[in-house]
Amino acid sequence: MSGPDLRKAAAARALDLVRPGMRLGLGTGSTANAFVALLGERVRAGLDIVGVPTSEATHAAAAGAGIRLATLDEVPELDLTIDGADEVDGRLRLIKGGGAALLREKIVACASRRMVVIADAAKRVETLGRFPLPIEVNPFGLAATQLAVEAAVARSGCAGAVSLRRTQAGDPLRTDGGHHILDAHLGRIPDPEALSTALWAVPGVVEHGLFLGIADAAILAADRDGSAEVT
Ligand code: 5RP
Repeated sequence: MSGPDLRKAAAARALDLVRPGMRLGLGTGSTANAFVALLGERVRAGLDIVGVPTSEATHAAAAGAGIRLATLDEVPELDLTIDGADEVDGRLRLIKGGGAALLREKIVACASRRMVVIADAAKRVETLGRFPLPIEVNPFGLAATQLAVEAAVARSGCAGAVSLRRTQAGDPLRTDGGHHILDAHLGRIPDPEALSTALWAVPGVVEHGLFLGIADAAILAADRDGSAEVT
């Protein structure tokens, strides 16, 4: 099965968790988009829910799918957030932010009673860190913040380069919140909690992509002889 088929299979299973009247956090990325598309079909068939998108991209996709939307200020308590991830470990710790939406994704997930991750099972890892860890930073004092992030990374037992994420045109990428993203290429993160604490101590860090103790469940789809096995 192709990656898109696996993402759709995970998204379809997540749809079973949705009940009429729910206030839903809508994640960002291709897997979250698959969920939004399927949710839109249900909405057009009469399901009444309200969605809070985690990015401008998801806002556009969900509005296009006919989903009623609200801001988190209008609906500050959510029942369920469905979102993708870049890595998931055995303790439901995540790396997120490959799509640069980690700040809003974390705010929305933490405002939800439940967060359920949907992903291709290839995202499951023993140890987090093969995927570069996105760190959202304020543009002011970027070079100083990068040095402080590098020191924090080293102090927390990790090793590797930290790079500024750029657009295809070569400009520093701007998130929906107007920040930049530093990607920490660490290979492995032996103590995610220690790294999280160390990064939060850097003043220019707005948020990082380690989601620790936030996800409640993961729906992972794997290719089982040509059909999706969802666990
Ligand atoms: C965006 C994210 C995405 O959820 C993550 O990058 C996974 O994306 P995809 O489903 O396209 O693999 O964290 O910031």
